[in-house]
Amino acid sequence: MSYKLFINESKMSKNIIYTVITAILFLVIWIYRISNIETNNAINILKQNNIFIMKPIIEPANTLCQSNPFIVIIVTSYVGHVELRSAHRRAMPQEYLKSFNTTRIFLLARIPKTEKYITQEAIDNESQIFGDILQGPFMENYRNLTYKHLMGLQWASSVCEKATFILKVDDDIVFDFNRTYKYLTSIPISQREMFISGHILNNTLPRRQKQNKWYVTWDEYPRSNYPPYFSGWYYIISPKIAKELCKEAIYHPYFWIDDIFITGVLTEALGIQLKELPINYMLEYYELLECCLKDMITKSIKCDYVVGPNGGRNNLIVEFNQALTNCDMWKNCTVRTLDNSLKRTCVMYRERSIFSDGQGEVRYIKLYNLRQTTSPL
Ligand SMILES: *[C@@H]1O[C@H](CO)[C@@H](O)[C@H](O)[C@H]1NC(C)=O
Ligand SMILES: *[C@@H]1O[C@H](CO)[C@@H](O)[C@H](O)[C@H]1NC(C)=O
Ligand SMILES: *[C@@H]1O[C@H](CO)[C@@H](O)[C@H](O)[C@H]1NC(C)=O
Ligand SMILES: *[C@@H]1O[C@H](CO)[C@@H](O)[C@H](O)[C@H]1NC(C)=O
Ligand SMILES: *[C@@H]1O[C@H](CO)[C@@H](O)[C@H](O)[C@H]1NC(C)=O
Ligand SMILES: *[C@@H]1O[C@H](CO)[C@@H](O)[C@H](O)[C@H]1NC(C)=O
Repeated sequence: MSYKLFINESKMSKNIIYTVITAILFLVIWIYRISNIETNNAINILKQNNIFIMKPIIEPANTLCQSNPFIVIIVTSYVGHVELRSAHRRAMPQEYLKSFNTTRIFLLARIPKTEKYITQEAIDNESQIFGDILQGPFMENYRNLTYKHLMGLQWASSVCEKATFILKVDDDIVFDFNRTYKYLTSIPISQREMFISGHILNNTLPRRQKQNKWYVTWDEYPRSNYPPYFSGWYYIISPKIAKELCKEAIYHPYFWIDDIFITGVLTEALGIQLKELPINYMLEYYELLECCLKDMITKSIKCDYVVGPNGGRNNLIVEFNQALTNCDMWKNCTVRTLDNSLKRTCVMYRERSIFSDGQGEVRYIKLYNLRQTTSPL
């Protein structure tokens, strides 16, 4: 009996051992599969976000950053915006920028099939003449803007690693280079290495209605609000921080709203504190800039703002900088008084705020729809 019992017991323990082994086996297989899915996901993120470091189609002249510039201006530009790039070059010729240790490149992507007015040959020629074009290997599309933006930061922070500041602007933005330069020279040397400054947008929410231009699915962006981020129109960043953002980008799922992803999601992940531009710096609506410019031309009241959108007027950046130069040359411009404040005199335009409906909605629509259909090109 004791023998029988022993057999029974050993049979039982054998069963237990089999069960345990089978369970462990399943567990191992399960863990293996889970981790495989995770590494696959990680590899997918890597592959997806790596596109911005792939070899560009066109690179800028390699002399552009030889002399350790003070400012590198990177301008995101739709490949077909030949006139806008021309306006930037006329407003601020490379030689003029050079006298302030500044250089500038334009960030382009590949010509989309829908584009009828521009050929790659023309872009090649433009690059031959000006040597200021960086053209990425991805297709021109507003959903690819994050690639373009990262490509610019990556280029500036590696090729122009020794630069002091990177200024990122859009091609449809008007800005006063003189004031930009003055502002940046005023930054104490000890603060330059970790410098980042722009117009902060707080408390913005993802649009979850399908019909919205800014419609974002929960898959694309799984949180219910956006972190604070800079308006992508114009912001300043040190090459050191830019490099950190590019490194960090690889570990996050791609998100197509470039300024939110790069200056919001990535800076938040790295614990980088955003710094607001000085007061009276950015004009949020085109009409205010128009008003400001008109007063400068007709009343010789100097425009006391530095940045604003061009409202679809390609040549505005030239007119604005010309008027500022005239003010300096004739030395007869007055400073705007408080009761003459721009936001009061141009009050009727206020309800047309572009920021009233989330971030620069108008900007993308303008860049990728209106401009393409209204462009005289
Ligand atoms: C430009 O850089 C050179 C050399 O680094 C320096 O001598 C010069 O003063 C700088 N010019 C301006 C306008 O910052
Ligand atoms: C590009 O430049 C070449 C040589 O200068 C010229 O023959 C050609 O017409 C130009 N093409 C375009 C599209 O501007
Ligand atoms: C860019 O946009 C196009 C749509 O025009 C899309 O087919 C493509 O997958 C996107 N990404 C890249 C890297 O080109
Ligand atoms: C800014 O304007 C002042 C006054 O006209 C001029 O002396 C200076 O060279 C200008 N600086 C830049 C960066 O354009
Ligand atoms: C956004 O918040 C920051 C602090 O988190 C603040 O400095 C900044 O003024 C705010 N900007 C706006 C436009 O409210
Ligand atoms: C400033 O000088 C310019 C050029 O001489 C002139 O056209 C303009 O009317 C002057 N503005 C004022 C307020 O005197």
